[in-house]
Amino acid sequence: MTRKKLVGIAGLGMYVPKKVLTNRDLEKMVDTSDEWITTRTGIKERRLVQPGTPSSTLAAKAANKALESANLKPEEIELIIVATITPDMPFPSTSCFVQSKIGAKNAACFDIGAACSGFIYGLVTARHFIDSGMYKNALVIGVEVLTSVTDYTDRNTCVLFGDGAGAAVLGPVTSGGILSHYLGADGDLANLLYLPGGGSCNPASKDTLKNRLHYIKMSGSEVFKSAVRLMTDAATRAVCDANLGCKDISLLIPHQANIRIINSVRQRIGLPEDKVYLNVAKYGNVSAASTIIALCEAVKEKRIKKGDIVVLVAFGAGFTWGSIVLKW
Ligand code: COA
Repeated sequence: MTRKKLVGIAGLGMYVPKKVLTNRDLEKMVDTSDEWITTRTGIKERRLVQPGTPSSTLAAKAANKALESANLKPEEIELIIVATITPDMPFPSTSCFVQSKIGAKNAACFDIGAACSGFIYGLVTARHFIDSGMYKNALVIGVEVLTSVTDYTDRNTCVLFGDGAGAAVLGPVTSGGILSHYLGADGDLANLLYLPGGGSCNPASKDTLKNRLHYIKMSGSEVFKSAVRLMTDAATRAVCDANLGCKDISLLIPHQANIRIINSVRQRIGLPEDKVYLNVAKYGNVSAASTIIALCEAVKEKRIKKGDIVVLVAFGAGFTWGSIVLKW
């Protein structure tokens, strides 16, 4: 399609809680070991909120930093999109709570539920609103309090997840910006990664509590195989759509779920290790917040310079997957 406007990132911000949960801490909670977690996932520690802290609190902290770096006042923001699977509550949307917390009273607000691909789905959505001329700018936030839905009696899942938030201000740019994107989904595979309790399917009841249905359920090895295949496919397609080859990628920023998934994707795409950004060891899997936190840290560490081709790629429950190519 012909694009009316170039859209790019005007500001970035992130927030992670201070409290750290290490692999050694988990050894005291379930039958696991630092050695198993490190070799199977690459995760050493993850962050967690004080119990009762909602996603909107983390999101607002990240959003304020992104606004500051974009040099925008909250009232200037026209759209807020929050990507999360751990909303403050089923309704109103977490984006409305964030709007109130940061004072962005002129913004339209909605949430996106695309799990770990949520931030990329959010960026693509915001791009179209700006590209079409409907809004001048948008605040896209990925946030999770996954510790609120993690079953700390289930060693298959509890070692993987953490809490955090990242935010990006999108706006028109004169050069570079978003070059291309690709989004995909397959609802036939929903039963491989899901949270069954508390929705209209299984409303909260004594039975849903007793059967621990309010926690993440996952078929790890099936998710693993699909993640490798579909993240490779998404990144390759978006790069092709930008009329580039994988050799043109300056930095790949993949969803940080598991170092083995990331390494397999890297090898299939044919990139050397130094062209892939990693922070999975520090935060584990932060779902919708994962790629945006990684982007924020890559920028802060000066891993990205002007003119670089940066590719974000993610995969998550749904299944959903997506990729976006940016020229910095
Ligand atoms: N500590 C010790 N042993 C554990 C363990 C833990 N925390 N978790 C699982 N195990 C055990 C299993 O019970 C199994 O034991 P068994 O063979 O006696 O049944 C064994 O380790 C191997 O399990 P398996 O599922 O084959 O391991 P794996 O190599 O697939 O790694 C995951 C497990 C979860 C790390 C991996 O499948 C994964 O990362 N999947 C994708 C997860 C993900 O990305 N989810 C979010 C999507 S965005």
